[in-house]
Amino acid sequence: MIKINYNRHFIDKKDINSVVSSLKSDYLTKGPKINEFEKALKIKFKAKYCSLVSNGTAALHLTGIALGWKKNDIILSSPITFLAGPNSVVYSNARPDFVDIDEKTYNISIHELEKKILKLKLLKKKIKAVIATDYAGQPCDWKNLRKLANRHKFTLINDNCHSIGAKYFNNLGYASKYADVVIHSYHAIKNITTGEGGAIFSKNKKFINKINSLKSHGLEKIQSKNGLNSTWPYQMLNLGFNYRITDFQCALGISQLKKLEKFVIKRNQIAKIYRKNLSNIKNLTLPHIEPNISHAYHLFPIKVNFKNIKISKETILRKFRKYNINLQVHYFPVHLQPFYKKKFNFRQNSFPCAENFYKSTLSLPIYYNLKKKEINKIASILKKLIK
Ligand SMILES: Cc1ncc(COP(=O)(O)O)c(C=O)c1O
Repeated sequence: MIKINYNRHFIDKKDINSVVSSLKSDYLTKGPKINEFEKALKIKFKAKYCSLVSNGTAALHLTGIALGWKKNDIILSSPITFLAGPNSVVYSNARPDFVDIDEKTYNISIHELEKKILKLKLLKKKIKAVIATDYAGQPCDWKNLRKLANRHKFTLINDNCHSIGAKYFNNLGYASKYADVVIHSYHAIKNITTGEGGAIFSKNKKFINKINSLKSHGLEKIQSKNGLNSTWPYQMLNLGFNYRITDFQCALGISQLKKLEKFVIKRNQIAKIYRKNLSNIKNLTLPHIEPNISHAYHLFPIKVNFKNIKISKETILRKFRKYNINLQVHYFPVHLQPFYKKKFNFRQNSFPCAENFYKSTLSLPIYYNLKKKEINKIASILKKLIK
């Protein structure tokens, strides 16, 4: 049995009480906790509108549909992200494409993005949207992303699933300030959880109304012609889905959100202990943090020069498993997934920084309940293996 995973939820008595009281109420599915959680999220993250859905993937899927992506629309993201972002482009029959990462932050490279936009312009092609992931908990260069979005008129989406609780220029609400659409996941290993769950934030009321309809089969409340309410005033105007979240999940979310600051502080303390143990070690690179960033440390990705140390990543993963410690790799570059290679003809060496990053990266365990003794043990095993 794995005792230490790369990430883990933390549930306390208050969370349990909150869920139990919701389970004892009249509402299991659509009920008051959904509105209450949406309101709390909007206040916390300074967002104008919010719609909760069943998971982060559903949030991305609905975003593509509500924005009207269609065949030949080009949507860019970095290859070092979770599959759900690029997959949401494929669900809409649009064209996913990629931009290499910044070597230091592992986020989408602004320089490469600009190059890509100009290259596509020469081919008389225009990009429709960029989905930028705040990888591992570090916000992207949002000031420059916004400038590019304004200049080239594309929709800017922040896949904020790793960075819940991060700050950019001291602003917890940075994601909704700079992006047109912001996506959260509250999956069990995220910085706060509802088990499965997700949210979409936007400044655009019409867009959020559309999402609210699409997450519930495309049904919309119709005003009758004579002004009188009919007994069942709903009509299906678009093809929608059942991507609703439940009331008791939101009861958990409300309680978890109150602990977000505490969770993020602890993740930063763990990162500090790793840094103390692992700084200035040959063949090892720790995460770089840009100025004006407060990291949410959803992940602690390190880079190991496997060529120099002459043992493979697989060997390190296997040796750690012998100690019941499960490291992870985030991520296998999306463009090299067999599906993407086959369907869209992506090739090796197209995004060299992302591919090199994948070859060298490992994510060390980081979560609220990880003990100092365990962190020191992980660091000491790693040091022995790579020296
Ligand atoms: C960056 C990123 N985007 C999207 C998702 C999808 O979220 P969910 O698992 O809630 O569908 C995840 C979750 O793993 C993620 O890490």
